Amino acid sequence: MTHILAIDQGTTSSRAILFDAELRPVASAQEEFPQHYPASGWVEHDPADLWATTAATARAAIERGGLGAGAVSAIGITNQRETTLLWDRATGQPLHNAIVWQDRRTAPICERLRAAGHEALITARTGLLLDPYFSGTKLKWLLDTIPGARERARSGELAFGTVDSWLIWNLTGGKVHATDATNASRTLLYDIGANRWDADICALLDIPMALLPEVRDCADDFGTTRPDLFGREIPILGVAGDQQAAAMGQACFQPGMMKSTYGTGCFALLNTGADRVPSTNRLLTTIASRLDGKTSYALEGSIFIAGAVVQWLRDGLKIIRSAPETQPLAESADPSQEVILVPAFTGLGAPYWRPECRGAIFGLTRNSGPAELARAALESVGYQTRDLLEAMRSDWGAAADGVLRVDGGMAASDWAMQFLADLLGAPVDRPVVTETTALGAAWLAGWRAGLCPGPEDFAKGWALEHRFTPTMAPDQREEKYARWSRAVAATIAAA
Ligand code: G3P
Repeated sequence: MTHILAIDQGTTSSRAILFDAELRPVASAQEEFPQHYPASGWVEHDPADLWATTAATARAAIERGGLGAGAVSAIGITNQRETTLLWDRATGQPLHNAIVWQDRRTAPICERLRAAGHEALITARTGLLLDPYFSGTKLKWLLDTIPGARERARSGELAFGTVDSWLIWNLTGGKVHATDATNASRTLLYDIGANRWDADICALLDIPMALLPEVRDCADDFGTTRPDLFGREIPILGVAGDQQAAAMGQACFQPGMMKSTYGTGCFALLNTGADRVPSTNRLLTTIASRLDGKTSYALEGSIFIAGAVVQWLRDGLKIIRSAPETQPLAESADPSQEVILVPAFTGLGAPYWRPECRGAIFGLTRNSGPAELARAALESVGYQTRDLLEAMRSDWGAAADGVLRVDGGMAASDWAMQFLADLLGAPVDRPVVTETTALGAAWLAGWRAGLCPGPEDFAKGWALEHRFTPTMAPDQREEKYARWSRAVAATIAAA
């Protein structure tokens, strides 16, 4: 058995990638699934879609690999984080659609808890903030809303899980109800210092602890697949939330190493090693990995709109037909115009956490057109990343001044990555393999299976494709960033 299957269950699609023992991708499959928006600010997924597209893409990737399931020594799972599911342990039937991480319906619950003075304790234990982003208040909403659910939860009939737990449950035919420490650290219910579910917070949210999955290491035994799924039982040996998996795929194992992934949103993680660094700048403190029982921590900055701003140029403004048109259009913009776009379409994430904000454009002239808007859209991603890095520098001092490793769709744009390096005044490194999320999951499973090397040797295999070095004059950089900061302040003031 020479191959590893990585399952990457994301917000808009499910993917499966088959890797060989040298962690080279050899076959893949991807399926999108419907998004449900039952009310303003609400986002749901049908749990059956998450499972069906995962099973179908896993089978398709194995088939395309041409070697059969017999060649697959292990499965690694990585997933959209925080998205919340509740199901019946006896039947495996969900009680509700999954409430997606982007969903804002629990803002009033967060507000009430904050007003009652609970945020300090929650942040001290979980490293997170009272924001609807995390699973805890979503689970509370489900238990408050579905008749009889809390009673059934108390009597042990129901199971809660993030997407990884839901997939593990289905892959093992209901035999394993587990998660890993990185996913647990995003629930608002997990004490990241003590590494256990927090009874006080569960009591505060009235969440029966009988609902919770068992928390395991990222490279661990998560059971074996039902024999009928792939024709044989395949062990599940790796699990990590997608941003932590990407940090591992980028080999950010040492304190001070940073990565930023540009998908729909952007998530930057700075490894702080065994130090659990509390943020004074409203970043998140989170578990980067738990390997061999050893927990590493990270500071995380989460931006909700990055690649999604390009989708808006395409689907909203209709000024491009496809994403690759953005860069040439931005390059043709009039350099004398200073159009700034604050893409707060679903509020502002870190370090502002202002769910009520909406997008704004500044500096329009009669000559502003599609090119200037395209440039402003790409630049907004650079500015937002600088906001995160400023917060990281201030939380963790000069050690966070290093190189930024980038991946995700938008990392393919040379123009956007050069602007990012210019604005940060720091090098931006793009690796040869940009499928870092799936790679991280495959490595975890491959390591546990004995096929792949441990972290140190795996890190030696990380290869640079291109380093973007800052070329912008420091004065110009600071002037541009100050203009952005004023635009954000005005956007917040207008909310
Ligand atoms: O925290 C949310 C994040 O895990 C979602 O990632 O790539 O599915 O948009 P993605």
